[in-house]
Amino acid sequence: MAEINKNFPQGFLWGGATAANQLEGGYNEGGKGLSTADMLTAGSHTTPRRITPVLEAGGNYPSHEAIDFYRHYKEDIRLFAEMGFKIFRMSIAWSRIFPNGDDAEPSEEGLKFYDSVFAELKKYNIEPLVTISHYEAPFGLAQKYNGWSDRRVIDFYVSYCEVIFNRYKAVVKYWLTFNEINILTMRFGLFMAGAMLPEGNAELGGQAAEDDEQLRYQALHHQFIASAKAVKLGHAINPEFQIGCMIAYMCSYPLTCHPDDMILAQQKDNLTNFLCSDVQVRGAYPGFAKRYFAEKRLDIVMEAEDELILQEGRVDFYTFSYYSSTCVSADPEQEQIGGNLAMGLKNPYLQASAWEWQIDPQGLRWSLNNIYNRYQIPLMVVENGLGAADTVEEDGSINDDYRIDYLKQHIEQMKEAVADGVELIGYTSWGCIDLVSAGTGEMKKRYGFIYVDKDNEGKGTLARSRKKSFYWYKKVIGSNGEELV
Ligand code: BG6
Repeated sequence: MAEINKNFPQGFLWGGATAANQLEGGYNEGGKGLSTADMLTAGSHTTPRRITPVLEAGGNYPSHEAIDFYRHYKEDIRLFAEMGFKIFRMSIAWSRIFPNGDDAEPSEEGLKFYDSVFAELKKYNIEPLVTISHYEAPFGLAQKYNGWSDRRVIDFYVSYCEVIFNRYKAVVKYWLTFNEINILTMRFGLFMAGAMLPEGNAELGGQAAEDDEQLRYQALHHQFIASAKAVKLGHAINPEFQIGCMIAYMCSYPLTCHPDDMILAQQKDNLTNFLCSDVQVRGAYPGFAKRYFAEKRLDIVMEAEDELILQEGRVDFYTFSYYSSTCVSADPEQEQIGGNLAMGLKNPYLQASAWEWQIDPQGLRWSLNNIYNRYQIPLMVVENGLGAADTVEEDGSINDDYRIDYLKQHIEQMKEAVADGVELIGYTSWGCIDLVSAGTGEMKKRYGFIYVDKDNEGKGTLARSRKKSFYWYKKVIGSNGEELV
């Protein structure tokens, strides 16, 4: 029997992932305007974050300082380089470049900040992977246009892309148009991704927030058009650009082998995962989307030129986040459990994290195969990790064996997928440095190899220190994934 090759390819892009609003801070510095993320209060596992239409005096808004990458970026990038990062996923804060979203001119100060960040990455030969919009739009667009529900926002986004593509064309090759674009198929996405304002003080993703499926899918359509236009424009500005989609991959197993459960699992995979990537990778809405719109009486306004725009703006590669899996059942009585962005059903074979996200490394292999079988284009896992509370020992050490264990098991499954023939080109684990949790706004839910001294109330010195996983990941990268223990 020929030997099975489970090695990652040469030049595999190992690294870590972050997002501006969870990392940067400096929310009102350097000419930056307010973003939608800046209006979100801190919450917890049990208390939802709130969307406040105006900033409340004395309120705890975690994005405002975050971990102050704005001032610490040199130190942080040096630490990434020490681990041997080949790639660093970050996002540009749109409102640092266009403070209100619809400004006539971009902010030179904002652009300069990212010049400096990219120069620092270049120093260590770390390739930037830039998410153009990661859960934040200029708040002005939410107020004035109700965010992505308004087609005019497409043009503001494309102007923003034009500015950053031209400015950074020599230093950035990899781009992602929207973080987890498929979150707009879920209730959680209304404000977080769609920048659409619910009435009054509303809970993020909660029952108090108004939901409108019609509006969400209309906004999603606008993001598809914006993404496709950005892809076409990016390729014209620099044909070397690699521009990808980014999906929150929801791995859902049928709870039983009952055909009803099988169909439900497939429908969920189609609607929550593949609807978006079919549009972005294949350039057209799939049949099941049209059926869903008809059944739900959703009337999505599309212009005559949209079909061609989608066709001409197909992405070069597919990226996704993967944290956990859940089950689906046709039986409404089954027990629910949490997960990234949406609830699902408990799987009796899996353990869950302290935040109730079920841990399922094999689900990653399954997902990689499932996605690759459909599209056969290069894949990148751009988010994966364990959110956990860490303990700092008296000697300052942080022994996060649970995190090492989680990551090791997932990397092992990526190797299996590579051996299955999946073209996997990179891996950026989420929150390579502790940062603000998007879902809860906590600092306590840590993902990093690098610890940041800051607590849920915003107190701490912001000092950085290396966790046990830092040294482990350095070994993983140094051996191109060979040494996992
Ligand atoms: C993804 C987001 O959904 O999950 C990130 O792209 C987020 O922004 C990550 O931080 C982990 O979720 P959480 O809620 O633990 O921060």
